[in-house]
Amino acid sequence: MKSQYVNELKSGQLVKEKFVLSKKIIRSRKDGSKFALLEFSDRTGTIEGIIWDIEQLGSVSTGDFVFITGNVTEYQQKLEIVISSISPVSEDEIEPDDFLPQAEQDIDEVMADIEEFCAMVKNKYLKKLIDSFLKEPEFAKKFRTSPGAKKLHHAYLGGLAVHTLNILKLISHIELVYPFCNKELLITATLLHDIGKIYEYTYKNMIDISTQGKMLGHIVIGYEMVSEHINKIPEFPRDLRLKILHMILSHHGEFEWGSPKLPVFPEALILHFLDNLDSKVDIMAKAFKTNRGKEKEWSDYHPYFEREIYLSEGD
Ligand SMILES: [Fe+2]
Ligand SMILES: [Fe+2]
Repeated sequence: MKSQYVNELKSGQLVKEKFVLSKKIIRSRKDGSKFALLEFSDRTGTIEGIIWDIEQLGSVSTGDFVFITGNVTEYQQKLEIVISSISPVSEDEIEPDDFLPQAEQDIDEVMADIEEFCAMVKNKYLKKLIDSFLKEPEFAKKFRTSPGAKKLHHAYLGGLAVHTLNILKLISHIELVYPFCNKELLITATLLHDIGKIYEYTYKNMIDISTQGKMLGHIVIGYEMVSEHINKIPEFPRDLRLKILHMILSHHGEFEWGSPKLPVFPEALILHFLDNLDSKVDIMAKAFKTNRGKEKEWSDYHPYFEREIYLSEGD
């Protein structure tokens, strides 16, 4: 176990610890000499760093485990580490659990709950489609481990499964409000809407975006995966096929949020808004959690929400 974690670092503290080097940007001064802006990560978060003497940096690359010494200082109301030395650390000197953020929930339970929702689906084609994924061991393994994002919402191992279950819970009583909804279609599309994320991210030393993720993104990857599985199910109804594929393509809800199609029927619209709700609540809850206890009424300016978050919990 590490003795110093990112979320516990304080201004003025001396750091002697292992981290993942998660970003490295080399900058030049006017006289041609160079310095580097860095970022360090562990399972609790990320912190920026700076190294004034580029020679000290050696050959370390982004994604490497490193041992650093330095001082935590506050610059523009943010903590950063001024590095005095940095050296690579081999993989057998680290404990992987120290570096990758994990879900707070028990993922076995999360998966069992997801399967319980899926068991409500009786339509034989949708059922076959769900089984074709969940009963494939390789898929199930990746689905339960995959993060929901690199930085924003559910950015930890198991995040995809937790996010999927949250939306399933949100639709669990949808028929009471919208009785015209095809709930089985909604359950199936919710399970499948983000499955492209299992190939969008890599999570060896840190959560990162894969080449496939950078070039295609999870909407296109997921569309391809579901399309392939449907093609293997004889006589899968044309309308159902179009609806599920449309729900994957339209779930981000806006062109500028990466959806090539906008939702064109109620179940697609519902999936989009619940997906959006769960993502945004998770981001705000994280901002709330990381700022609480600092005796501040407001968080720092939050770049995603473009506003400060009110932190007070009342008297
Ligand atoms: Fe998505
Ligand atoms: Fe999602």
